Order: sequence, then C-alpha cells, then structure tokens
Amino acid sequence: MEINKTEQLYEGKAKKVYATTDPNLVIVSYKDDATAFNGLKKGTITGKGVVNNKMSNYLMSLLEKEGVPTHFVEELSDRETLVRRVEIVKLEVIIRNVSAGSFAKRFGVEEGIVFAEPTIEFSYKNDDLHDPLMNAYHAIALGVATREEIEQIKSMAFKVNEVLKAYFLGIGVRLVDFKLEFGRTPDGRIVLADEISPDTCRFWDAETGEKLDKDRFRRDLGNVEGAYAEMMKRVFG
Ligand code: TMP
Repeated sequence: MEINKTEQLYEGKAKKVYATTDPNLVIVSYKDDATAFNGLKKGTITGKGVVNNKMSNYLMSLLEKEGVPTHFVEELSDRETLVRRVEIVKLEVIIRNVSAGSFAKRFGVEEGIVFAEPTIEFSYKNDDLHDPLMNAYHAIALGVATREEIEQIKSMAFKVNEVLKAYFLGIGVRLVDFKLEFGRTPDGRIVLADEISPDTCRFWDAETGEKLDKDRFRRDLGNVEGAYAEMMKRVFG
C-alpha cells in the first residue's frame, strides 16, 4: 500500500511531523533550524536536517539489529523518514560517560572526567518549565510513566549506550553523553523515538578531543557545519 503524507500534526524546534494515510505511521521532516537554551538562541545549520535524518536512521537500524525496538520504519528522502506513530513519554533521558555540559556546571567539576560507570538522569519534557530535572519517583507521582516503563526505559537507555559507545569508538569518536526520548506504541510497548544525532549527543574526536556536535553552535565555537559534515563522513565514509 502506498503511504502518503496528509496534514501537519506538529512543528517542533528541529522537526515537523505529518500524518499519513496509515493511522499507525507518521512522517518526520528534519529542518536546518537550530535552537539552544530552550529556544533563546536561534540559528540555521545548513545541511543539518539531512545529517540528522540519515545518521539517526542509520543508528536506529543498528540498534534494532542489537535488539532495541525503535520507531524507525523507512527513510523516504534526505530529510524525511517514516516512523511509527507513538505517544512520546514526557521524559528526556540523558546518559553520560564523561563529564560535560550541565553535569560539569551543576557539580562544579571540569569537563572530560571519565566516569567509572555511565550515569542516567531524567528531565521532565516541558519547555515552559525549562525541562526540570526529575527523578523516577517524581515521574511516577505525576503519571509521566509507570514504574515498569521507567525500568524498561533505563535498561534500554544503558543498552543503547553500550551499542553506540562501541560503534562510535570504531569511527574515532568518543560518545561523551546523549539524550534519548521514548514513545508508547498504540499497544502500550516502549520504543526508542525522536532522533540520535549531533543535536542530541556530544561527540569528541577520540584523538584530538575536537568537538563534533551542536556544542559548536551552543558555544559559538565556529565551523558548526563542518562538524556535522565530519560526523556524516565518519558514519557513511
Ligand atoms: P546537558 O549537559 O546540557 O544536560 O546535555 C546533555 C546531553 O543532552 C547533550 O548530549 C546534549 C543533549 N541535549 C539535548 O539533546 N537537548 C537538550 O535540550 C539539552 C539541554 C541537551
């Protein structure tokens, strides 16, 4: 059956989502728009949408092979992908292997400390509240997720970390930290959703430590497009 795009359901900071003629599938369209600090800083990263779409699809396929269920169905074009329609769990799930960003700031430590084991944290996905940190008890209390869902999300997130850490090391990249989002399918199962890209991960060159991710935009480090292009080259050769 041919699947066609129908009405736009949602426009986020970096993506648009469209309904399709199949009620269980939606089309995600990746934009070049970039924001940081909850939309306070705005810009364009030329070509970012293509990089994020293709990289995210590649990584989701890899994760599927390793037994992690995801929303990914089929890449339709450079910027558009067919995914399963899910209800997004209102949690941003952050895994860290090395200190950086808000972790370094919150605990008053330098960036680059390698942790003995990875950390996990949740924030409540709510722009009006600036995505406040949230623990599992808070999430259960507020009905954001059930205890069972949280346990599943935790084990899936650590599994994603193991798979991606090894994969990125193989292409000369340190996976410092990243943010994941999960969705509920109509039959109530948890799958990995959203994207995995230089927008949502910190990538440091394994040799030089050069930043190859959105921190170049957030921190005005220059050569933002070059970093995205370099990550694309590492992944696709
Ligand atoms: P943080 O150190 O600012 O908390 O970021 C941790 C990771 O999460 C980093 O890889 C960037 C990613 N991230 C997002 O994908 N979206 C966000 O809104 C934020 C704040 C971070």
